[in-house]
Amino acid sequence: MSRISIHGEWSSRMAFIMAATGSAVGLGNIWKFPYMTGQYGGGAFVITYLLCIAILCLPVMMAEVMLGKRGRSSPINTMRHLAQENNQSKLWRLLGWSGVIAGFLILSYYSVIAGWALAYIPSLASGTFTAVNTMSPTEITGFVDSVFKSLVENPVQLTAWHTGFIFITMLMVAGGVKGGLERAVTFMMPALFILLLVLVGYAISTPNFMQGFNFMFNINFNDLLYPNCTEAVCKFSGEGLLAAMGQAFFSLSLGMGAIMVYGAYLPKDASVSKVTTAVVVADTSVAILAGLIIFPIVFSNGLEPNAGVGLVFKTLPIAFGQMPFGTLFGTLFFVLLVLAALSSSISLIEPAVAWLVETGKFTRASASVVSGIIVWLIGLITVFSFNIWSDVKPLAGLNLFELINYLTSNIMLPLIGLLIAVFVGWLMQKSTIAEELNLSANSIGYHIWYFLLRYVTPLGVGIVFLNAIGVFS
Ligand code: PFF
Repeated sequence: MSRISIHGEWSSRMAFIMAATGSAVGLGNIWKFPYMTGQYGGGAFVITYLLCIAILCLPVMMAEVMLGKRGRSSPINTMRHLAQENNQSKLWRLLGWSGVIAGFLILSYYSVIAGWALAYIPSLASGTFTAVNTMSPTEITGFVDSVFKSLVENPVQLTAWHTGFIFITMLMVAGGVKGGLERAVTFMMPALFILLLVLVGYAISTPNFMQGFNFMFNINFNDLLYPNCTEAVCKFSGEGLLAAMGQAFFSLSLGMGAIMVYGAYLPKDASVSKVTTAVVVADTSVAILAGLIIFPIVFSNGLEPNAGVGLVFKTLPIAFGQMPFGTLFGTLFFVLLVLAALSSSISLIEPAVAWLVETGKFTRASASVVSGIIVWLIGLITVFSFNIWSDVKPLAGLNLFELINYLTSNIMLPLIGLLIAVFVGWLMQKSTIAEELNLSANSIGYHIWYFLLRYVTPLGVGIVFLNAIGVFS
């Protein structure tokens, strides 16, 4: 049985790769990966992240694309059709619902951070950061700090930028699969990549390039297992492992239906394993490049790698202030960062929009507006958690933004990923899977993938979860 998507189809396999890469590459690579690497001590975080990508996430990504390709609709309806087709409980549709909820929660804060990037465009374009050329190292650190602080501590400004970002997202999603999504991503991914290479060139010219490089690739597991530990003996903590796994799922846009819904628009004859591998390679390269740019700047300017969420916003402007044509490159970089965030944000909201359209009660435009308004409202929580609510810490000393971030990346995405692995690995018919993957069920590639998905992913994710709640300590 084969269904047809009512939302349209990508015009080619390449268009899917571009769109899925657009979804995967975003703030997660350029903002989140470097600051988390900084917080969890560098190399050990990077290697754990890479292992999670290769062993746990790649198989889940193939499974998600395959499910979408089979179901040809929003994740909620895809899970409903496929549960029926495989004689499984109707409850599997809840997986689609959890994805929609996770997407809304992620987008709610993603849009606020993308708003920071929007706000930095005029600052860079007007040459604000060229002032660093006449400053001493301590003055530079104080200056970039104050620019960042004056932005995030101002709720009115943050709300305005957040509103702007959600508004552009709604416009693009309303444009539909070919009109909005595909057109936007085909030019911005290559442009972003080229600019990152230019910046790596700059990073190599900084005095402390090797220190930055070593920070990223020298492996010291103590930093990961005992983050922020200053005692002689530290208690084993799985927090760093959980963070690395959560970041791997987040960066590849897994566990919330974004990749599933893009798979639903994939032409029937496309090879799932090839397109997925291409997306994973592109996403991972961008994260590593971002780290290679940021850490040399951190060490060359006496900044702290564990500066937290402001890391990128305090380091890159120094580079742009100092380098030739920095005003031009800096402006262009933040424009591209916003575009990369947009190509991710449209995928965060697409599962909900596709579902609303499938109910028959909404057009694409009205579905985008309704979803956008809900996300905008939830986003105010993040806006205020950087200023008027910064002292509200309901759980484990985390503020509201940190809680939403933790809940979605570290818990919801890997948990949904695990359930997807169980559904495909244990409950779906093998012949259907092989047909959708365009792979022979006897090939070596199929066997390796199936083994990883059936055993390694559920066990791996499960162990990291149990470890994080202290079962093994
Ligand atoms: N992968 C995106 C990033 O790294 O910025 C964020 C994201 C998009 C997460 C879509 C989840 C998702 F479904």
